[in-house]
Amino acid sequence: MASDDLPCAAAGSARSHAERVRGLDGARVLVGVCGGIAAYKAAHLVRGLVASGAQVHVVPTPASLQFVGAATWEALSHHPVRTSVFEDVDQVAHVRLGQEADLVVVAPATADLLARVRMGRADDLLAAGLLVTRAPVIMAPAMHTEMWEHPATRENVEVLRRRGVHVMDPAVGRLTGADSGPGRLPEPESILDRVRAVAEAPRDAEGRVRQDLAGQRVLISAGGTREDLDPVRYLTNASSGKQGWALAEAALARGAQVTLLAATVDRETPSGARRRDVRSAEDLAAAVAEERGQHDVLIMAAAVADFTPTTRGAAKIKKDDSGGVPELPLRRTPDILAESVQARHDGAPSPRVIVGFAAETGDDAATALEHARQKARRKGADLLVVNDVSGDVFGSDRNAVHMLDATGEELSRAEGSKTAVAHAVLDAVVECAAEALDRRGGDVP
Ligand code: CTP
Repeated sequence: MASDDLPCAAAGSARSHAERVRGLDGARVLVGVCGGIAAYKAAHLVRGLVASGAQVHVVPTPASLQFVGAATWEALSHHPVRTSVFEDVDQVAHVRLGQEADLVVVAPATADLLARVRMGRADDLLAAGLLVTRAPVIMAPAMHTEMWEHPATRENVEVLRRRGVHVMDPAVGRLTGADSGPGRLPEPESILDRVRAVAEAPRDAEGRVRQDLAGQRVLISAGGTREDLDPVRYLTNASSGKQGWALAEAALARGAQVTLLAATVDRETPSGARRRDVRSAEDLAAAVAEERGQHDVLIMAAAVADFTPTTRGAAKIKKDDSGGVPELPLRRTPDILAESVQARHDGAPSPRVIVGFAAETGDDAATALEHARQKARRKGADLLVVNDVSGDVFGSDRNAVHMLDATGEELSRAEGSKTAVAHAVLDAVVECAAEALDRRGGDVP
């Protein structure tokens, strides 16, 4: 085989930590696939990584080839596939694969692979690559519930996490047989979300994702509330929940414990997050009031309805023969963000950092940013993340924001993917938390 067919051969020697690519565009991603029925789902993951601009090299374990053949991986990744340490020995492929990767993802990761990596074994090409690499590693386990819950696996996962490996929790649901429980491979889209969060995260000197939110409890509202008019109709907004999800993934990658208050979002829960589903603004207000006292950070990324129908008809609203239209009396909903700031001011147990989001458009009276400055002063949150929605932002993967403090002063700006924006918001949160602790004379986390 020609040496330029070798994984990452064009790049020459391994990149240093400082040179490593941030984000997925142009990043060299090694995808390990273990022998499990969920191996077929990794095909969607590889496709998603390639679509995000990554150079993907797939290393299937020999057992996994019983489930999905090498041809599938070669076709999807556009790179040759090898599984044995005895291929391309002259090029030292088993070392170069791990050295040259910017990121490694193993999906599905079997109980056996977790055990081998924990022990530092190098008995196949994938295990050898994992022993060599210093790039961030994400593992998405899939196995039967009994295996996942076995003390040996629990211990292996704990050790790997302590070493900085991002071991996702498996999803809960139907497994290969008739059984169901924790052990399903998370959906490829969820794995990709976590991979993006890790790929864009700030790193420490060893190239590992900075765990600057370790031990912090972060409460995030996401999505858009739904205000029922009758059993089949409702008022809502265009929020997709993507920014809130990206915040949750980014916070989890940085070591936080995350509670996600999901306002009508139809997406898989980020692995490791605790989720509460809510519907209306009033449901969300009740959930925030219940949860905020037990969290260090509150991020209100949800688009909350400002008005709700005064009554919800038990029966569907009907047309009549008069040709008229029904009156829909509305009342204001609680301002959850302002209430949370007020509760803290009144001395209630509260998050140390409270963050609001504002979607603004400019008009004849003022620019989007000027409106936002007024809102920042009105709401009094520690941070207001301002999104100029004059363009097409809802449902898009990209975003551009300004971060304002409670006086309307601009602290920073960020632009890029929703994941990049999420990390920039969390950077500002970490700074705010440190300042809040300094003011109280406590320990900086
Ligand atoms: N928000 C809230 N409760 C509401 C409305 C909004 O907590 N009833 C929060 C949002 O989650 C967001 C911030 O307040 O973090 C700003 O939301 P936005 O809709 O921009 O602000 P409004 O106060 O509704 O102002 P506007 O009149 O511009 O809609």
